[in-house]
Amino acid sequence: MTEACSKPMLQALRGKSVSPAPVWLMRQAGRYLPEYRELRAKAGGFLDLCLTPEYAAEVTLQPIRRFGFDGAILFSDILVVPWALGRALRFEEGQGPVLEPLQSEDLRKLRQEGLTDRVAPVLEALDRVKTALPETTTMIGFAGAPWTVASYMIEGGASKEFLKVKSWALGRPEEFQTLIGILIDATVAYLSAQVAAGAEVLQIFDSWMGSLSETEAERWSLAPLSRIVEELKVRHPQVPIILFPRGAGLGYTHFAETSGADGLSLDTTVPLSFAKTLQKAVTVQGNLDPAALVVGGKALESGVERIMATLGQGPFIFNLGHGILPDTPPEHVQRLVNHLRREAS
Ligand code: CP3
Repeated sequence: MTEACSKPMLQALRGKSVSPAPVWLMRQAGRYLPEYRELRAKAGGFLDLCLTPEYAAEVTLQPIRRFGFDGAILFSDILVVPWALGRALRFEEGQGPVLEPLQSEDLRKLRQEGLTDRVAPVLEALDRVKTALPETTTMIGFAGAPWTVASYMIEGGASKEFLKVKSWALGRPEEFQTLIGILIDATVAYLSAQVAAGAEVLQIFDSWMGSLSETEAERWSLAPLSRIVEELKVRHPQVPIILFPRGAGLGYTHFAETSGADGLSLDTTVPLSFAKTLQKAVTVQGNLDPAALVVGGKALESGVERIMATLGQGPFIFNLGHGILPDTPPEHVQRLVNHLRREAS
């Protein structure tokens, strides 16, 4: 057996049904782990943590050591790309990311040349993790999708209504297309560099896709993501790609049929019977409610069992429907992993 074949996550992404189901969790490195909080305090700011290879590698490995997940997602953030394009970025305690809101006149100032040089610390962290991983663990690289990254750049942070970014997308679509085009190119370059540094799977997060109407979703989420997948497949045909169009609803079918992705990450609201139909075209990943992992007990067990009963026979990777919540007791994560592995044996 070659090294790649022995990795459960890669097998699942090649369309196989794997038992026990491979498992990793979005935001598996983070504040719910005491060892993360300790290192974060030592690093100073969150961005310092992301850009110090020794720390970023250590934080990536913490949940792998504790829980033996099948996938190790590089510890970084989707907002590293706008930062590398020259936008000011800071993370405020309790408030999340804060960016200087992008204006039309800033478009031509975005620094596209030399982007991969500026993310060198991220690539070095990835390289360090790769050499330290157990041989069955898959190295996952990631980036944000153009729509989600553009929304942070234009809104300047988290948003409820997305009115600034939608004013561009709906009111000045040609100009907005220029930004989306820049983000497509930057994302392809960034993810390609991650593959060169050792990433074996790529996941692209479109966390705010669900804010768009059908027509706008086609144009600003599905189309750019399909372009990115197409370009990456030319460069790295062997590297599976997972898309997370969170909130896509029935639109998940469209992603399964036309995006060219190998896997789709399903948010918590996706009905399992519908998810099963998607498995004919792609590997599905998901979709336990992160709150069930906080609550534990019966809520956790029944949630896991329902998912496994419906999706466990097809190509499947166990995950949450969104990132781990900071209040999650680490013991519940251990129980989840034990449960998945015990049930299968
Ligand atoms: O373990 C992993 O999953 C890898 C690391 C990772 C982080 N962010 C670390 C992080 C990944 C894959 C992300 C992706 C990300 N970042 C997304 C897409 C996924 C999603 O959740 O929808 C988005 C939208 C962001 C932007 C972002 N970064 C927000 C909104 C926040 C603040 C929210 C929060 O939880 O505080 C961040 C900060 C951030 N990124 C933290 C972590 C561990 C918390 C920072 C801290 O330690 O204070």
